Amino acid sequence: MKHIRISQRVNAVIASPIRKFLPLVLKAEARGIEVLKLNVGDPDIPPAPIFWQTIRRYRQGTLGYAPSPGISQHTQAWVKYYANFGLKLKPEQVIPTVGGAEAILFALLVTTDPGDEVLVFEPLYSSYKGFAAMCNIKLVPVTLKLENGFALPPKQALAKKVTSRTRAIVVVNPNNPTGTILSDKEMNNIADLSLQHGLFIITDETYREIVFKGKQKSLLQIKRARPNTILVDSASKRFSMPGARIGSFVSYNPQVMEAALKLAMIRLSAPTLEQHALIPLLTRPRLFTRAITQEYRRRRDVIVKALRKIPGVTCYEPQGAFYLIAKLPVTNADDFVKFLLTEFGDRKQTILVTPAEDFYITPGLGRNEIRIAYVLNVKRLTRALELLKRSLAAYQNHGT
Ligand SMILES: Cc1ncc(COP(=O)(O)O)c(C=O)c1O
Repeated sequence: MKHIRISQRVNAVIASPIRKFLPLVLKAEARGIEVLKLNVGDPDIPPAPIFWQTIRRYRQGTLGYAPSPGISQHTQAWVKYYANFGLKLKPEQVIPTVGGAEAILFALLVTTDPGDEVLVFEPLYSSYKGFAAMCNIKLVPVTLKLENGFALPPKQALAKKVTSRTRAIVVVNPNNPTGTILSDKEMNNIADLSLQHGLFIITDETYREIVFKGKQKSLLQIKRARPNTILVDSASKRFSMPGARIGSFVSYNPQVMEAALKLAMIRLSAPTLEQHALIPLLTRPRLFTRAITQEYRRRRDVIVKALRKIPGVTCYEPQGAFYLIAKLPVTNADDFVKFLLTEFGDRKQTILVTPAEDFYITPGLGRNEIRIAYVLNVKRLTRALELLKRSLAAYQNHGT
């Protein structure tokens, strides 16, 4: 019998660090333990009622494909949406995608060939590693540190990472997993770097609008870098509807849009029903996003205050999104998370967080760090933080 094998490309894809503990979670739950989940960015807040109402009112007999460049009223609604943020766009400069995830894949496919390099900042939203493996490209990390608020290094330090194979630089703003927001200076440095070295900028603004102070700014607002810039966007988080699977791919560069449209045609269409249902929200976004941002800000305050009271824990106060990275007084956060799920319990409850190591590319970094997604209401979050405190104390004593 002739041998068959799985492709090296897929073998190179790591299992999602965010979901890898699922078997242990199921076992804990089977033992009657409630697991408070702070591991996945799956919001607990329902979408606005108008979303469901629009779906209920949908009266087409068939559920056909949407046009590959998007349903025209939907794309128009994105154009209107971006106008709120000082971005004047034409419909042909926006393509709705199957979540921000597909927009990332399109952006990498449009800007790179196999063997090319893309600059990223670590810790990094870990799916980028999977997408890079799918595209056969190399992610070159620039390491950021919790101690200095995950600030970007100066321009010269970034330039040192550029080689003849570098094609693009990715920024996630607001950031998952760090919760940071780029300063004007950092944005300008990225723009300069891209122009000096002929790099595309892929700006992932999935958490756009979830900003706790000041106004949302986009790298796409920097006019001089517009031809180089691709905005990857998503309805998942700000409208609390990751299951709707709607994102967008935006660029002022006609060649980029032409290339992306080819990919959009191959995958046929983004979801039809959800494109329709999102129109009212894109038209008046702040009715929903203002309240949601306030809710995440309240949670941020609760979590930072509680974390700072736990001996040996350090964290940086997030300015946006709904994540933070915390340093724990442990040597191996992966082992600690296993302990949470297999040994720890307090009044039949435990918590689940994500070890941060997999958000890094450089081996060995982030071993004593975790990422927390604050996707529970204040009451449950307060209890979750109490559980973290107790479990750390129990972990330090266990096995001694
Ligand atoms: C930074 C970032 N980009 C993109 C995505 C993809 O989200 P979606 O495909 O639901 O839009 C996520 C999801 O967590 C994310 O955190």
